[in-house]
Amino acid sequence: MATKRVLVTGAGGIAGVNFVRAVRASVRGYWIAGADYSRYYIELPDLDSRHRTPRHDSAGFVKRVAEIARAEKAEFVHPQPSSEALVLSRARDDLPSRVFLPTPEVMETGQDKLLTKERLDGEGVPVARTAQLKEIGDVEEAFSSMGRPLWVRARHGAGGRLSLPCETPREALHWIELWMGRGTLLSEFIVQEFLPGRNIAMDTIWRDGRLVTSYCRERIEYPFKHISPSGITGTPSVARIVADRKVNEVGERSVKAVDKTPDGAYSVDMKEDAKGRPCVTEVDAGKFHTTMPLWGYAAVRHLGLPWYSNLADLYIRLGSGEEPPGDVPRHDLLPDGCYMIRNMDSGVMLWREDGWKERVL
Ligand SMILES: Nc1ncnc2c1ncn2[C@@H]1O[C@H](COP(=O)(O)OP(=O)(O)O)[C@@H](O)[C@H]1O
Ligand SMILES: [Mg+2]
Repeated sequence: MATKRVLVTGAGGIAGVNFVRAVRASVRGYWIAGADYSRYYIELPDLDSRHRTPRHDSAGFVKRVAEIARAEKAEFVHPQPSSEALVLSRARDDLPSRVFLPTPEVMETGQDKLLTKERLDGEGVPVARTAQLKEIGDVEEAFSSMGRPLWVRARHGAGGRLSLPCETPREALHWIELWMGRGTLLSEFIVQEFLPGRNIAMDTIWRDGRLVTSYCRERIEYPFKHISPSGITGTPSVARIVADRKVNEVGERSVKAVDKTPDGAYSVDMKEDAKGRPCVTEVDAGKFHTTMPLWGYAAVRHLGLPWYSNLADLYIRLGSGEEPPGDVPRHDLLPDGCYMIRNMDSGVMLWREDGWKERVL
């Protein structure tokens, strides 16, 4: 089989490094060019060639990506960061390579927590009760109608941006005013019912409106949680695969609610409410969660699962026009109860409560 040439942007971030490693683990030969904004982190992934790109919001970003793709004869481009993926989804006609991304309209909805919430509500998918702030005084009203604590968060951004659980209106006001003093608009904040239950991620791959495969995992701990006010630091240090029909059903419906014909990778986040009902907090369209390719790598290298369990490989093949394999399970691709434990400079371990463990990195 001929070597396939791909370009990964944002290749130096943790998710990008994981994606490149997973693609390397494919039985098919890949030639991988990588690009990143950071002159430091671009040194980390195992690439065949390294490039620098300007920030996604600078005028020269698309031109530079297209230039690299052309020079490297990349047949396929995977933009790993959501911000870069949105820009390249808009500019797909300016690229010499294929992408496997949803439409810009769908991605914009996915990257705005308020628009997502409205779309999900409209389709009857469970979400947290949410208040939009028209004026700062609306914070008091939100506490009167939704109780306490409340979860203050930004509409845009990742990694729990500007999130804080607040016990009183005063705390919420201080938090919001602090950030408004640094240039964030009031309209960028929403206030939500606090969801106290399990924190769940669902990783999904779709083709022409059909779910190809998926699995769910519960996030159990975040690294550096004690030095973050919300305790959310983006990507978990401990997670466990869960197989739960209700979670699968809500997650699948949430993707269909933001995109009638999903195509590509969709990362869904859910948090359970006080009654144990999974509520969707985010449907990131076109996105690989940070550890999605790492789970795929572990699946083929350490769990003896078929090649398509390496979702980075499956995604590039589907995005290049190949047909989905016939035998792939739509749900619960990975084994229930398998943990992934990882931390900075400490490696990556698969573990089960019966004591079995295996080092991945
Ligand atoms: N209403 C909420 N109550 C409690 N925790 C929440 C709430 N909304 C989000 N979170 C937590 O914040 C994390 C990050 O939020 P998410 O919706 O995934 O957006 P992003 O990852 O883009 O910051 C979630 O995984 C969840 O743990
Ligand atoms: Mg998220």
